[in-house]
Order: sequence, then C-alpha cells, then structure tokens
Amino acid sequence: MKMTVWKFLPEQYRTLPKPETYAPSLAGKVVIITGANVGLGLEAAKHLATMNPERLILACRDPKKAQRAVSDIQKVTGVKSIETWQLDISSNASVKAFADKFAKEGGGKLDILIENAGVNVPKLERTPDGWEKNIGVNHLGTSHLAFRMLPHLLQAPQPRLVILASDVHYFTKQPELMNRPDLLQSLNKDKPANKFEAFDGIQRYDISKTMNVLWGRVLARHIPFSSPLTVSTVNPGFCVSALLRDQPIGLRIFASLVGRTTEVGSRTIVHAAVAPQVQGKTGVYFSSCEEAEPSDFVISKAGGETEEKLWTETIRILGKVDPEVPRIVQTYLSC
Ligand SMILES: NC(=O)c1ccc[n+]([C@@H]2O[C@H](COP(=O)([O-])OP(=O)(O)OC[C@H]3O[C@@H](n4cnc5c(N)ncnc54)[C@H](OP(=O)(O)O)[C@@H]3O)[C@@H](O)[C@H]2O)c1
Repeated sequence: MKMTVWKFLPEQYRTLPKPETYAPSLAGKVVIITGANVGLGLEAAKHLATMNPERLILACRDPKKAQRAVSDIQKVTGVKSIETWQLDISSNASVKAFADKFAKEGGGKLDILIENAGVNVPKLERTPDGWEKNIGVNHLGTSHLAFRMLPHLLQAPQPRLVILASDVHYFTKQPELMNRPDLLQSLNKDKPANKFEAFDGIQRYDISKTMNVLWGRVLARHIPFSSPLTVSTVNPGFCVSALLRDQPIGLRIFASLVGRTTEVGSRTIVHAAVAPQVQGKTGVYFSSCEEAEPSDFVISKAGGETEEKLWTETIRILGKVDPEVPRIVQTYLSC
C-alpha cells in the first residue's frame, strides 16, 4: 500500500474502539511495557492496569519518571500491582541486566511484552554501544529485548509481542537500498558510501520504523508453527507527544492540528496486546485497531529478502555482545 494525504487525514480522525468495550481480564497475567513513563506507553499502561494484570512492569530508563508514572496510573485506576524496572534499551548491558533480573526473580511466563520505547532523533547521536540512535534504540535494542524475553513469552499459554512501528514506514525513500547483508553496519558508518547511507534524521527514523515492520514479520515466520505467540507491529497514528520534542516547529504545529491524543493512539497498542480477535494473527501490521497492508516495499519480493538479511545481520551483531541471543535463536526458533 502507498500512503497519501487522502488516506492519512481521514485515518487520523477515525473513532477507535475503546479498550473497555472488548477488554478481557488480565488476572494471572504478567505484562511488561517499555517506555511507559510518558506518552503512548503511559496511556497504554493505564488501560492495561484497569484489566487487573497480576504484574504490570513499567520498563523505563529513568526510575524517578517511572515512579511518577506509577502514581499517575494509580490515581486514575486505583491499581496497586505496578512495578517499575530500570531499562535503557539503547544499552546492551542494560537489556541483558533486565532480562537476567526477570530470569533470576522467578522468570517463568511472560504473557504480554509491549515494545513501545522509541526515539526520533534528528541529529547524528550514538548509543553507549556506538550505534546511531534511531537504529540503535528503535531496531537493535528492541530486537535484543525481544530475543531475551522470548523464552518467557513462549511459556505463556497465549502470549503477545507488540512492537511499535509507524505509518512513516510508507515514506522510506529508496527502500530497495535496504536489501543488503550489511545494512545496519553501512548505516552506522561515519563516512557513508552513498546518499542513502548519509545521515538524514527524518529518513533514519523512517528506516528504523520500516525495520520494525520487517522485523515483526520475519520474527513471526521464525517462531515454530506450534507456538501460540502472536507478534504484531502497530501504527498508533500521528500523535501529539514528546517524541516530536526535537523536530522542526512546522511539524509540531501540524501535529497540534491533526495529531491524535496519546490516549487515542494507545488504543491500537492495547488492541494488539489483548483483543481476543488478534490472537493467532501473527506477523500482522495494525493501524487504527485493524489489520493494514504495509508499504509496497515491505510486501514485495525485495522486502521479503530484506527481512531475512536484517534477521541474519541483527543476530550476528547481537550475538557478538550477548551469547544468549544465538543460543535462544537456536533453541527456540525455526530456521
Ligand atoms: N507519537 C507519534 O506520533 C508516533 C507515531 C508512530 C509511532 N510512534 C512510536 O510510539 C512509541 C512511543 O512514542 P511516543 O510518541 O509515546 O514518544 P515519547 O512520548 O517520546 O515516549 C517515548 C518513550 O520511550 C522511552 N525511551 C526512549 N529512549 C529510551 C531508551 N533508550 N530506553 C528506554 N526507554 C526509552 C522514553 O523515555 P524518556 O521519557 O526517559 O525519554 C519514553 O518513555 C515510539 O516507539 C514511537 O516511535 C509514535
């Protein structure tokens, strides 16, 4: 599918189903949501809290901000069983520490993992591990955490993994250039070999969100057929949030005119995480709480080849810093 202004604008104003109209009870379920101290993650956490999960873990990089979010959620919902765990998804060490802590403190099943934490960085900045931030956080950190939590997800009876993508993936320029075995490495070079590799903040975010869509699809394909894990990528729509804090004023004004509130945006996340009709629809991209066709590139033959190359390169890179990743791939996933 191609995105046009005539598709985008009406979509922004659609009325989305409120979670309370279909929400199941989450009694006995363990839920983790990353980047839940603000924005879409916080609103999704509020909805999920009302469904009474056994454990709701807010995985946030700043413990003080996370604690403020807990108070905020408790004020609205009265729910007490909310925990905050420190996680900086841009750091391999932090992702490993988070997963190790989950395993050490009983581990066991994880019913829902929502990978919401993300950045939109217009200038060239790097993660502590040396990756350009949009790619390092939105793709590499997100994939790392998903791999590490997979053994726990696979113990739950009907687990869900939800990854925040975006409709900006429709605007990735020259997506065919993504079809290369060293995509992540070439996008990370200080001296890019061509225009595609050169740092362009808007494009780099769009590419990272295309990676989210591709990665959700390829991960779903590698989950053994017998597993009930449902992997979804979601577009919350264009929302007014702190994500735009470093963006040009024009974009922020546009957001104030047509942007959804983060509460409305969060409904697509919650829908993918708990709506009964989503169970088993794995590898699907959702927009406005409905299955949607991703970009023409994603569904093309070249997109399919890119998925596999991204998969292989991601495992190779993560495997160098975390031997658990290739072990998990070998033990739990199909080739
Ligand atoms: N807003 C939109 O229009 C829109 C549209 C499509 C997709 N999305 C996606 O939706 C997700 C949430 O966006 P949002 O609009 O809610 O943005 P936001 O208000 O800026 O929230 C982003 C969240 O991610 C956290 N985060 C950033 N870097 C992190 C890191 N290294 N480790 C752990 N947490 C980190 C932030 O923590 P801090 O508060 O500590 O920075 C914050 O909690 C993102 O993945 C974004 O790409 C947003």
